[in-house]
Amino acid sequence: MHKAGFGQVGAIVGPVIALGLLLNAGAGAAPSTTFAVNGRSIFQSGKDLSGVQIVARKPPLFRSCAGCHRSNGSGGVHLPGGAVSADLRHAALVKKQKRPYTMALIERAISTGIDNEGKPLDPVMPRWRLSRSDLHAVAYYVYRELK
Ligand code: HEC
Repeated sequence: MHKAGFGQVGAIVGPVIALGLLLNAGAGAAPSTTFAVNGRSIFQSGKDLSGVQIVARKPPLFRSCAGCHRSNGSGGVHLPGGAVSADLRHAALVKKQKRPYTMALIERAISTGIDNEGKPLDPVMPRWRLSRSDLHAVAYYVYRELK
């Protein structure tokens, strides 16, 4: 119970702050944070926050998005078979596109391998089988966090 460094006052104030955070979390702050952190975890490590490894229709060449697209999403990695991983940063997916990617189109690309123009992506890009919430979280991470 007693937190190191808080001293005697901390023994009372600490739990009060903790309770405040809990109540605040209940009001909606925590779920959205967890959502963003989950997206980051899937992209960077290939595991969601419950430690579940993401899987694809066929065994993927790399187990995380970052493995092919780099941790900043800049892509440009030459892969066996001649494919080059796409740049997933906002400018590439949205600003420079005639048909900009949306969240829904990113989710479609991740799960079915169909790009923003309706064309199939190179088969080296895995067709991921993610739970609805994992798919949503990683698409959000790509759409909002890769700059
Ligand atoms: C084994 C390598 C590999 C892994 C792992 C991988 N990708 Fe890809 N991805 C690619 C390649 C290669 C392309 C480009 C395909 C093409 O040009 O046809 C691509 C394309 C994409 C595109 C479409 C971009 C565009 O310009 O149309 C999105 C979105 C994408 N990947 C997201 C992801 C996400 C999210 C993950 C993780 C869940 C992931 N990728 C994991 C190789 C990979």
